[in-house]
Amino acid sequence: MNQLIKFGERPRLRHGRVVAVGNLKGGTGKSTVSVNLACALAAAGKTTAILDTDPQSTATRWAELEKLPVACYPAPLASLDAVGSWIADSEELRFKTDILVIDLPSVVVPAMGAAFMIADVIVVPVGTSLPDLDGTQRVLQYVELAHRERRKHPPQIVLVPTRVTDEVPDPVGTVSRHLGLSKELIAPPLPHHLAFQESYAWGEWVGSLAPESPAHERVQELARFVLDRLEKVEPAPLWLGGKARRLRLDLASDALDDPFGEEASEGSGEGARRSWWRRLFFRR
Ligand SMILES: Nc1ncnc2c1ncn2[C@@H]1O[C@H](COP(=O)(O)OP(=O)(O)OP(=O)(O)O)[C@@H](O)[C@H]1O
Ligand SMILES: [Mg+2]
Repeated sequence: MNQLIKFGERPRLRHGRVVAVGNLKGGTGKSTVSVNLACALAAAGKTTAILDTDPQSTATRWAELEKLPVACYPAPLASLDAVGSWIADSEELRFKTDILVIDLPSVVVPAMGAAFMIADVIVVPVGTSLPDLDGTQRVLQYVELAHRERRKHPPQIVLVPTRVTDEVPDPVGTVSRHLGLSKELIAPPLPHHLAFQESYAWGEWVGSLAPESPAHERVQELARFVLDRLEKVEPAPLWLGGKARRLRLDLASDALDDPFGEEASEGSGEGARRSWWRRLFFRR
């Protein structure tokens, strides 16, 4: 990521907000939402960038034709050893942007923990079919962990029903009931629309490929919803570069197998049960 960030300008006094887009269920539309939401936020006047943490590089390839109104920075995070510099790099980028949108892969990786630690809003795209809804329960547990770790500045969660067709009469109610979440946390659904698929092929977003289509209108609504949530949540404090870079990791070897510390590791006591990110960020 470093070589792609060219800082010629003076940093802003205010740092940008972070929107992490994640779901451990694959193919729910994370990259489609990340790219189109970032572009809609840019169209709404916000300086926006995408951080692509997925080794599949969907967002990076989407941006390759350089037709998107936002920059995309590949930033996979393969190992916990790199978490400190990843956070520091993302913070540098935040001083240049109003909003940083992070596209996450559908596996539990250090990038997900790191993104959940710095996100103001966590956007979870979710299909309305039963397997998609069931598969989404897992990521909600990790969002819950992020809430526990960040009691003072908890991230806001926003669920986005995706690929919705007329056959689903009440997508917001369906998601709300199945996941046991208040309807207030659920954004206006994104329709199943060919423009979303074609926009990837053409390296565009739906606002430039199919202006005023239902796809474009719904993405704009989603952007307004996310902006509203960002206004309601107090920004989490920064790690402030140097401090993050100096993070020294002292993790049990089981941390990668059990990255969120759900299962008690050997031994007893608080240290054995703390999630990896608490061990990571608070043992300094
Ligand atoms: N609203 C939509 N309407 C039509 N097709 C869609 C929509 N959203 C996503 N798709 C299509 O669904 C497929 C998966 O979308 P996408 O790559 O965004 O999912 P993902 O969650 O990022 O997947 P992965 O878990 O592999 O990262 C793609 O072919 C994409 O074009
Ligand atoms: Mg993806």
